Amino acid sequence: MEFPFDINHLFPERFSILDQTLVAGRKTAGMPHLQANIETVIDELGRASAKAQQLPASITSASKLQSQKHQLYLLKDGESNGGRGVVVGFLKVGYKKLFLLDRQGSHVEAEPLCILDFYIAENLQRYGYGRELFEFMLQHKKLEPVLMAYDRPSPKFLSFLAKHYCLTPSVPQANNFVVFEGFFVNISVAQ
Ligand code: ACO
Repeated sequence: MEFPFDINHLFPERFSILDQTLVAGRKTAGMPHLQANIETVIDELGRASAKAQQLPASITSASKLQSQKHQLYLLKDGESNGGRGVVVGFLKVGYKKLFLLDRQGSHVEAEPLCILDFYIAENLQRYGYGRELFEFMLQHKKLEPVLMAYDRPSPKFLSFLAKHYCLTPSVPQANNFVVFEGFFVNISVAQ
């Protein structure tokens, strides 16, 4: 995904982690012009993700990120676009208190890290970038995929999780979240 400004200037590293402050690196802190460009990137990514998932509205935007305690992992390719860089995609995570049904049909209260949004630019899908970004987040959070919950995963994402992590959906839930076989065995829950 190309932008009319230098992506390498905004995001110095291959992976950036953005939170409520929208600060991607030392250079952008307190620099309104660069902050505005970061907001443009997040809004554009959010729109593209919603379109790809056929959602009526974006679930990721700069203003949403500023008002919620979520983290957005962004992957860039710094060499493309004549050295100005392109944004490859993003992954958004956050903790949510959920009421889930286990195999016995009991309600279990848990607050797992949830995958809330995930998008790789259309022309770059199926080249391994999604896995690279997902792995970076797992290492950063020191987590296994089975310990997380997934908000309304798309067919492509379900296929991704089955292929790379051998995950198969567990008990169907009453909400939009999906947890996988092994979730209830592994997670420590507060009932
Ligand atoms: N059709 C079916 N499966 C796909 C497709 C596709 N078009 N694209 C990727 N996958 C799955 C497959 O399992 C594929 O393996 P295969 O090519 O051997 O069949 C595997 O992902 C490829 O792995 P990566 O290359 O690492 O994944 P990619 O870089 O494509 O990223 C992602 C995966 C993020 C799901 C990407 O395809 C995408 O952005 N899709 C559109 C948006 C989307 O559906 N996002 C998930 C929303 S749900 C949520 O966020 C909770």
